[in-house]
Amino acid sequence: MTAPTKHSKLVAWVNEIAELVTPDKVVWCDGSQAEYDRMIQINVDAGVAKPLAKRPNSHLYLSDPSDVARVENRTYIASVKEEDAGPTNNWIDPNELKATMTELYKGCMKGRTMYVIPFSMGPVGSPIAKIGIEITDSEYVVANMHIMTRVGTKVLEVLGDDGEFVPCLHSVGKPLAEGETDNGLWPCAPLESKYIAHFPEERLIWSYGSGYGGNALLGKKCLALRIASVQARDEGWLAEHMLILKITNPEGKAKYIAAAFPSACGKTNLAMLVPTIPGWKVETVGDDIAWMKPGKDGKLYAINPEAGFFGVAPGTSMESNPNAMLSIEKDTIFTNVALTEDGDVWWEDIGYDAPGKLIDWKGNEWMEDKGNKDQAPAAHPNARFTAKASNCPSIAPNWEDPAGVPIDAILFGGRRPSTIPLIHQATNWNHGVFMGSIVGSEITAAALDLKVGSIRRDPFAMLPFCGYNMGDYFAHWIKMGENTPLESQPKFFFVNWFRRTDDGAWLWPGYGENSRVLKWVFEQCDGEGKSVETPIGIMPTIDAIDRPEGVTEEDMAELLKVDVEGWKKEIADVRSEHYPKFGDKLPQALKDELEAIEKRLG
Ligand code: OXD
Ligand code: MN
Repeated sequence: MTAPTKHSKLVAWVNEIAELVTPDKVVWCDGSQAEYDRMIQINVDAGVAKPLAKRPNSHLYLSDPSDVARVENRTYIASVKEEDAGPTNNWIDPNELKATMTELYKGCMKGRTMYVIPFSMGPVGSPIAKIGIEITDSEYVVANMHIMTRVGTKVLEVLGDDGEFVPCLHSVGKPLAEGETDNGLWPCAPLESKYIAHFPEERLIWSYGSGYGGNALLGKKCLALRIASVQARDEGWLAEHMLILKITNPEGKAKYIAAAFPSACGKTNLAMLVPTIPGWKVETVGDDIAWMKPGKDGKLYAINPEAGFFGVAPGTSMESNPNAMLSIEKDTIFTNVALTEDGDVWWEDIGYDAPGKLIDWKGNEWMEDKGNKDQAPAAHPNARFTAKASNCPSIAPNWEDPAGVPIDAILFGGRRPSTIPLIHQATNWNHGVFMGSIVGSEITAAALDLKVGSIRRDPFAMLPFCGYNMGDYFAHWIKMGENTPLESQPKFFFVNWFRRTDDGAWLWPGYGENSRVLKWVFEQCDGEGKSVETPIGIMPTIDAIDRPEGVTEEDMAELLKVDVEGWKKEIADVRSEHYPKFGDKLPQALKDELEAIEKRLG
């Protein structure tokens, strides 16, 4: 196929890769519905996708049991200097990694088609958007990229003859012999030859051996976070693992909130929240990634670089997230959920019992046995839906505004059963950066290699996604504050929906009731909330947030208490375990924040 572009650098790269990976043919993707349908049909014919009778234009894929999630221990930041990858990333010398991966790539697309996917992260042509070109041998990846990004000819038009793009090379690492097909098996390579590699100085991504999610849909975590975080540092903006929501009060006044939580802490639920307080409205701009750039007025303007949601299915129900449930009624790809006899999907905590006999994510027959607590789940815990943002009922009408939306507040949070109150606010930007730097979730009994009750720190929820030294990343955040006029700065908050009593019961109901907390955030942005200064920051007074049903005054007092002893332990952990990891890269401003909070706690 001749290239539909005169971009000589792009054409040369595509030819060079084709020579290396030796596919049967090369196809340039145009982003059309016909192309999407063709991709799915190829997979249906090969037995790796099934149409779902109950959901129009929707399909189920079951992956190989070894290829079910991002592989963080096979993910590399191959910067020229090891120091630039920093203490939180895996590093291999880029020349060595390229040599290893080039051997793997040799002939790896034999028997397959090599697809060239031009994609835009962000509205096509937006000044904040970035263009990537993904080469892949997976029809599943092409179809998912159609939903998650903007794909096709219109992107090549914006790229022109010499525009900048991020080359993203992907292969499932499973060549086919003459006449062989996938024959019902999800193609991938064994764990030890999987590599998710980033070359930050070259703005280059190489991925090999996995067909799943963030390992394979290279626009998402690889480009929009790891490579974009490096671009953002160099260009003076922020690429963050944050949802973006729009909240409107009964008077019709709107504010925009960005929020960072570690993976699996409910970002999609918060982004699509249905408020329980009358007259308030929440709309979705994005559920996973925010790119924020200073506007002419000094405020940070955010776009969602994605066009879809790659959400975790288990736990999603009409109760926990009705907007997600309505988004996935049609045009959806499901991966590793269970299949019902009548051609629908099912997963744990979908809100109703399994309707009879299912096929589980491993392809075996499965009957729900409620008496058996040890029954293996029907859906993999990281089973996913890929759904179009435009099918989401709560999507904000201006979610694709190329100029972005002005951010009024930034929230941080994690799963913290104790110590961290329901909400507290930073007194200034650097205090906000301090909050972001200590984000973490408490280890539960599920992670056997870690001490139960200890905190796994995930600064800014960027631990697996920062493309450079995390100490330098903190310094970049501090610098962004210095460059943002005080009156244009967002307010920073730390939230915790996950407090429990000593008996393990939830203290706060969460979900739609979190709108009560967002209302206080809204009021604080206008300087109108009821608040008090405490040693850990600004907090709501006991009556500032209306209590939801079932939350007593004592519960509220507990949720808003400053647990001085708990905080002293928290801060001691930051001082002795967390901050030392960053050595002399730790900015002085954060050392100052640490000392200041220690002093305030007494
Ligand atoms: C995701 C993640 O898939 O954060 O969004 O792991
Ligand atoms: Mn995420």
